[in-house]
Amino acid sequence: MPLQLVTAGEADALRIAELERDAYADSPISPVLFPGPHPANSLELRAAQMAEFLRANPHTVHWLKVVDTDLAHDAESQQLVAFAQWHVYHPDPAPPVERQTFGPGSDPEACHDFFSPIWDTRERVMGGKTYVYLKYLTTDPKHQRRGAGRMLMKWGIDEADRLGLPVWLEASPEGKKLYESCGLKVVETLEMDLSKYGMTGVHRTCSMRRDPSN
Ligand SMILES: CC(C)(COP(=O)(O)OP(=O)(O)OC[C@H]1O[C@@H](n2cnc3c(N)ncnc32)[C@H](O)[C@@H]1OP(=O)(O)O)[C@@H](O)C(=O)NCCC(=O)NCCS
Repeated sequence: MPLQLVTAGEADALRIAELERDAYADSPISPVLFPGPHPANSLELRAAQMAEFLRANPHTVHWLKVVDTDLAHDAESQQLVAFAQWHVYHPDPAPPVERQTFGPGSDPEACHDFFSPIWDTRERVMGGKTYVYLKYLTTDPKHQRRGAGRMLMKWGIDEADRLGLPVWLEASPEGKKLYESCGLKVVETLEMDLSKYGMTGVHRTCSMRRDPSN
């Protein structure tokens, strides 16, 4: 079985940042939120920021990866084809939703317009509760539709069912079908008109929830 789900760690951070860059390369929202110019070391900066968050939240934040054991490698992180960051808010309830700021290469106004409604919705519906939250899910474009995303979803759903907790996430258009097939239901659809930023169309993010099955 070449695809395996294992715990990821700080040694994977740079590969995870690379995966994130590649997975969102064709997303219409990426050039709106992060138009650049990007610093030459932006991957290293992103990797350091993610590793720091993992270190700072050792009881809540869980990094999972899917590795393809058939891929040749010098370091284990080179076999990483998909990644998820899950937050398990249990037994302590979730702290107030963090209002993240974005560094060089981002458009602060577009980031505010995009992320604030997402954060507001999560705070309004889930604020002060215990739940399991999917923060990131990305699969290397070369390895999509092989089941890696579903394996990473199963980890969080199993954990939520074990603890009797709901699952919450914010779905990109690319992720929505997978999440629906995992039993998540749309709570709210947040729309962003891209014409304000010189693009066409409306970008939709869905806040989704799944109640525990036991
Ligand atoms: C969303 C994403 C993580 C899915 O990862 P994946 O490893 O390809 O997912 P899986 O192979 O496990 O697919 C599981 C199911 O999801 C659905 N699905 C996944 N990608 C799909 C697509 N592009 N179009 C339609 N359905 C899709 C299908 O139902 C699929 O099952 P099937 O292949 O048996 O039909 C991946 O497309 C990705 O990284 N996208 C860019 C980043 C992103 O938007 N992440 C989600 C943020 S909320």
